[in-house]
Amino acid sequence: MCGIVGALTGRPAAPLMLDALRRLEYRGYDSAGLATIQDGKLHRRRAAGKLSELDAVVAADPLPGTSGVGHTRWATHGPPTVENAHPHIAGRVAVVHNGIIENYAELKAGLKADGVTFTSDTDTEVVAHLLDRAIRAGQTPQAAMAALMPRLTGAFAFVVLVAGEDDLLLAARRVSPLAIGLGDGEAFVGSDAVALAPLTRRIVYLEDGDWAVLRRSGVEVFRDAGVPVERREQISTVSAAMVGKGNYRHFMEKEIHEQPEAIAHTLNAVLDPGTGRATVPYPLDAPDIPKITIVAAGTSYYAGLAARYWFESLAGIATEVELASEFRDRDVVLPERGVTIAVTQSGESLDTLMAVRQAKALGQRILAIVNVPESTIARESDGVLLTRAGPEFGVASTKATAAQLTAFCALAIALGRANGRLSEERAIELRDALAGLPSRVGEALHHEARYVRIAHDLARARDVLYLGRGLSYPIALEGALKLKEITYVHAEGYAAGEMKHGPIALIDENVPVVIVAPTDRWFEKTASNVSEVRARGGRVILLTDAAGAERLGESDDHVVVLPTVDPVVAPILYLVPVQLLAYYAAVEKGTDADQPRNLAKSVTVE
Ligand code: M6R
Repeated sequence: MCGIVGALTGRPAAPLMLDALRRLEYRGYDSAGLATIQDGKLHRRRAAGKLSELDAVVAADPLPGTSGVGHTRWATHGPPTVENAHPHIAGRVAVVHNGIIENYAELKAGLKADGVTFTSDTDTEVVAHLLDRAIRAGQTPQAAMAALMPRLTGAFAFVVLVAGEDDLLLAARRVSPLAIGLGDGEAFVGSDAVALAPLTRRIVYLEDGDWAVLRRSGVEVFRDAGVPVERREQISTVSAAMVGKGNYRHFMEKEIHEQPEAIAHTLNAVLDPGTGRATVPYPLDAPDIPKITIVAAGTSYYAGLAARYWFESLAGIATEVELASEFRDRDVVLPERGVTIAVTQSGESLDTLMAVRQAKALGQRILAIVNVPESTIARESDGVLLTRAGPEFGVASTKATAAQLTAFCALAIALGRANGRLSEERAIELRDALAGLPSRVGEALHHEARYVRIAHDLARARDVLYLGRGLSYPIALEGALKLKEITYVHAEGYAAGEMKHGPIALIDENVPVVIVAPTDRWFEKTASNVSEVRARGGRVILLTDAAGAERLGESDDHVVVLPTVDPVVAPILYLVPVQLLAYYAAVEKGTDADQPRNLAKSVTVE
């Protein structure tokens, strides 16, 4: 996590780095800082808290210079204080860093034994001291970097600015992502291409293990102790216009409302325009796949749980869904010719990346379902199915989830057709149901008054339960995650059938119970659970369709009636109410929906 940026330009560097950091704040927002060079000397400003705090510091005390580095932090080593805020400076060297230098304690002990004094609790500071000592000993910055890289272990990216070197940045990438931007007589570096979008779309992505020397005239890339390598320049698909909030209060609100397009674009990419059928991408196109293993984290994991239902019921393929963080630390047993699907919005979640590497090492072929085409997981996988949600900035994932579910559902239909499990007639019905979703999702967005009223109750609750069965179970889990991550209200998602095995003890008049219940094959059983909750004085909030409301609705105020859709695609539609209930509850509570405390969008630590 953490967002890093660097600039070599002809303009004042501080304002454009602050602007780039704003687009990286999704990666962390515990503290922020900038360093620039003017008259050969380093200048630095830092502030604890969100970027707005640094804005105020820089406004009061502007930073001169046309070259610099910047950082927005998600704390790992040391609390989010000014002293621990990046850039960290040692002598002539300023460093901004993302990830963890795993052997920092050993390196720090060695430096301390040599009399070096540390001013922060961070692992980053060792990099600044090691480079500064090498440069003071007479090495060029480039040679110092070449000597340093083999000494570091961990998953990290960092950028270095050296006093007296106004036309130089050093950048390194080990696992954590880093993109170099090339301008006209300017060079930039950032944690992703989105950060650089208004500055340039000419991007060179560093590969895992690369490090680079940037000058205004261009970039040279090296590996290990200085072996030069070629890296291709690409034109980023992200434009500056894609990175604003428009007329919405929050990115999350905007992204929830972009779901009809996210679903439609994903379908367009997955379905063949001529036949209307999805093609099964490599490596899922092999016959007789013994098992699909889905690895993911957070919301993407819940999308995987829905996918399991689809793969099993539409295509009859044995499927397991694994939390990436658990999978990678188990002695998993995987069958020969098995396929592992990594599902991830960012394509950078370290847990998921490590799970991909473990699955590969165990002989699995990997398909990535990913929203960022240039991401590490996309590049390390054997096949890629791109979700087309567009850049997602809200820390709470919304439109990317809708796109993941859409891609999974279309894929399961295609697999079912390919292995003969699904009739063409049913496949056509399901593809039609998918094609109708952008409109149905648009309709579901229009119950604002109802969502706001229910959210008012959720915002005041201490605990909230979310229940769902079958395909609605992952949506119940997702609803609970959305609520807790942006409102800090404790919420639990349960399989509705599990309620009687424990959670029912929690139910009283103070615990709202959100029940996800489209009329599907599980509906009657869920209806019994609704009665059980009501019989114990519980406050039911029912998300259902017209038939379900007729059967179960008691108080109009607490029933959201959604359009009727084929039950197979219902989870994609029922995402909308759980997202909006959480969003409006956050607005009601005044919490920051886009940047909830302690979180970061792209989790690149273990
Ligand atoms: O980028 P990824 O999809 O790999 O991210 C996985 C999780 O970190 C992510 O879904 C997280 O749970 C979100 N904050 C949920 O809203």
